[in-house]
Amino acid sequence: MHIQWFPGHMAKAKRQAIENRNMVDIVLELVDSRIPESSRNPLMDEIVNNKPRLVIMNKADLADRSRTEEWLTHFNQSEKNQQAIAIDAFSHSDITRTKKIIKEMMAEKMAIRKQKGMKPRAIRLMVLGIPNVGKSTFINQMIKKNRAKTANKPGVTQQQQWLKIENDFELLDTPGILWHKFEDQKVGVKLALTGAIKDALFHKDDIALYALDFFIHTYPGRIKEAYHLSEDMTDKTYPELLMELTTHLNFGDDFDRASEKLIFDIRDGKLGAYTLDEVPVEPEETKVSGNE
Ligand code: G4P
Repeated sequence: MHIQWFPGHMAKAKRQAIENRNMVDIVLELVDSRIPESSRNPLMDEIVNNKPRLVIMNKADLADRSRTEEWLTHFNQSEKNQQAIAIDAFSHSDITRTKKIIKEMMAEKMAIRKQKGMKPRAIRLMVLGIPNVGKSTFINQMIKKNRAKTANKPGVTQQQQWLKIENDFELLDTPGILWHKFEDQKVGVKLALTGAIKDALFHKDDIALYALDFFIHTYPGRIKEAYHLSEDMTDKTYPELLMELTTHLNFGDDFDRASEKLIFDIRDGKLGAYTLDEVPVEPEETKVSGNE
């Protein structure tokens, strides 16, 4: 689905996310493991504020494992009150691991409640994230049932409902749907390549040229292997390479068709697991103090 975001929608989505945040113990921020930075909402830190946050790197099955490890370290070290976990939302063991981490993160708070003589209660959770990171899938797996997909309509006021999970958790029924980062063209291309935003916003050949550049530099040999090309063609420019690929696929001079095939093949994992975002090199101390 594609959501058209306007300033009014953004303000409302932010306001709702903050209202919901105030009702929960912990915020579960879902990101796509292939684009852990590009799939974050630009105002996420402001929205989450100092609430404990678990960054859930979803779709880890589609991402480059070594880069996922680097991102986990980065998220675990970059903010106080924040931890990270990489999961495949369809994996039962990953969902179990997520529940365990949430309990561990909340253990101290719950122990303090107990010391004060307060009644034990379920840990309250909410899910936040941009469209297509897997929020509905994750919620369904957490509650272990398949219900109708949540309407991804920003700004639609719905009565808040809590979903009970095994007496241990209460999860806000509706995930907080937040907007992407629009301002950076490169982020837009990455979102389009992974299918997070619909292709109509970009020329297919722009996405394909970015993809060729990325794969040839980051995962040399994969393009050659996937399309049974005779040579690496690293000496070619990317437009030349796209032309070569189009001819090789017998698509005549239909570059759009070849671009589309490349994009869909990458989304379908035919070129292997990959991660488009690199962990930033800036010292993380800067980021922590900058947010305070
Ligand atoms: P959203 O609520 O955040 O918008 O995301 P949603 O759950 O609708 O998931 C978006 C797409 O991502 C869905 O695929 C879903 O199956 C897929 N997905 C979610 N989590 C994971 C994961 O951990 N790994 C993988 N590989 N895919 C995941 P779709 O093709 O759009 O829909 P469908 O054909 O699966 O129904």
